[in-house]
Amino acid sequence: MCGIIGYIGNKGNCINTLVDGLSVLEYRGYDSAGIAYCDKEHIKIIKQSGSVSNLKKMIDYNIKSNIGIGHTRWATHGKANKTNSHPHKVGKFTIVHNGIVENYNELKRMLIDEGYIFISDTDTEVACALIDYLYKKKGNVLDSINEANTLMLGGYAMAIICDDYLDTLYALKNKCPLIIGVDKDEKYISSDAYAILDKTNKNIELNDGDYAMINLNKVKVFNSGIEKQVNIKKFKYKMDSIDKKGYEHYMLKEIHEQPEVFKKTVGPYVNTTIDRLLEKMPNFDKYEKIRIIACGSATHAALVGKQMIESYANIKTDVEIASEFRYSKPFLQKNELVIVISQSGETADTLEALKLAKQNGNDTLGIINAKGSSIAKEANLLLYTEAGKEIAVATTKAYSAQVAMLSLIALNISTKKGLISNQELVEILEDIKVLPVYMEELLDRKNEYLEIAKSLACHNDIFFIGRKVDYALCMEGSLKLKEISYLHSEAYAAGELKHGTISLIDKDTPVIGIVTDNNVALKTISNIEEVKSRGANVIYITNRCSEENDNFYDIKIRIPKVHNLLSPLLTVIPLQMIAYYIAKIRNCNIDKPKNLAKSVTVE
Ligand code: AGP
Repeated sequence: MCGIIGYIGNKGNCINTLVDGLSVLEYRGYDSAGIAYCDKEHIKIIKQSGSVSNLKKMIDYNIKSNIGIGHTRWATHGKANKTNSHPHKVGKFTIVHNGIVENYNELKRMLIDEGYIFISDTDTEVACALIDYLYKKKGNVLDSINEANTLMLGGYAMAIICDDYLDTLYALKNKCPLIIGVDKDEKYISSDAYAILDKTNKNIELNDGDYAMINLNKVKVFNSGIEKQVNIKKFKYKMDSIDKKGYEHYMLKEIHEQPEVFKKTVGPYVNTTIDRLLEKMPNFDKYEKIRIIACGSATHAALVGKQMIESYANIKTDVEIASEFRYSKPFLQKNELVIVISQSGETADTLEALKLAKQNGNDTLGIINAKGSSIAKEANLLLYTEAGKEIAVATTKAYSAQVAMLSLIALNISTKKGLISNQELVEILEDIKVLPVYMEELLDRKNEYLEIAKSLACHNDIFFIGRKVDYALCMEGSLKLKEISYLHSEAYAAGELKHGTISLIDKDTPVIGIVTDNNVALKTISNIEEVKSRGANVIYITNRCSEENDNFYDIKIRIPKVHNLLSPLLTVIPLQMIAYYIAKIRNCNIDKPKNLAKSVTVE
């Protein structure tokens, strides 16, 4: 998942436009960055490993240019070094690319036989050489791009410049996001809307297989050799204010935005009554089963949703990792609703899983944060979370918004089925009202989390244990810790420890035990006592007031007691904050952890 930007205009400000766009796109990958621009009839390339700020130091902003392309990279093929960074130039073509050309080795062998020499390890250089090779044979850029698209396998988006037409940008889209921004005397290519939203809100959506020729005052779009009707649309959303608002990191800001995000996500459906919950949500009556498919933290939200929907709506709910679902027999039943969850709405595995479910004839519902994203466009039904733009690679507010939406779905179905009493409904509505206050209270207990972080930051292996919804929360807590602090941790179903992994427990082994589901509380406490008796250092996170004995834990974080449908939204806050402070103590790059990117548009 890389970020692509392209510009053609007549104001001479191409370089600034490219660099500004890359700064916004850097959430998509930051292993290297580069630009190519036309300077007095020649294409110049500046590229560097590392972040966009490294690239900025190499640029002379006094250079006037009117056409160029830029790239910020998440390495898929070859090391994250300067040679493998984009743009790549082969023969007459210069290219930046997001995605994977799966058959690049086979194409590379053919091109080497045709005399091409490669200097990088990337599939991108191969794609560039392929277009150059076809252009030498055909003499037509568009035909060459079209044929290259038929020869390449995989998902990709490309911005291309040809030395023979320095008044034209070319674009190619297949399964990876790419949009064309249009303004009177300027045109843009971008991986997402946010990188050009401050320039124009008019855009042309490209579909899979589309390729385009972009001049100063004309955009033509083609597919399979046939010119398509060009429809100029307007983005439906505005640029979120993407500044830290005084917080040291975007992640800390976004953790603190969760109370507001909860109100914005839940507010349209629930206030003093749940009438709108029943009116504004899809009708779930006909579904006898639910399958939730996602990746990463969205999967962990799905696992919380499973517990809610099964407990309160009494519908069997299975959760699958998208990259596994895609290559397994789906066993989808015709009355099974497939829900896909995605913050970015661009995750390749989730998008392809969604397409498979639709091909199978199942209704699909997207729980999506990024409006107008590929998954949002593909799903039959849509429930947007209102987390706003999430900059930190490690998701927090978007995850909790997903959990909140799944709880609303459980509440909607259980209410329609008459499975919930009026008294319990009143309790839930009361708790929805006070939940943001409890969230703020938990957010204020920084010193508690900081002290715990200090005790954990030197450990290389941390256990999270819980049962049912608490096990799902352990998974999210463990991922947060791993991805931003680089400390290894693992989430275990508490009942499973005695079947093997308890052998890893030694004196002072850190174990975070989560107990909020009262139905299994005593069982989990027994499991915590088992690790405590073997020397573990136990951090006990619970909404229970007190225990018969308190010698099974070393530190207790007590969270306010609310209805089970809402409790995970509180439990996750200490987990996020402890991970944040451990990463801070370890001087990690909290908003842009190494090897990661915010939007995983490759498989
Ligand atoms: C979350 O902290 C991770 N960065 C990652 O697991 C993420 O949740 C996953 O890639 C799914 O992304 P999506 O929600 O945009 O589809």
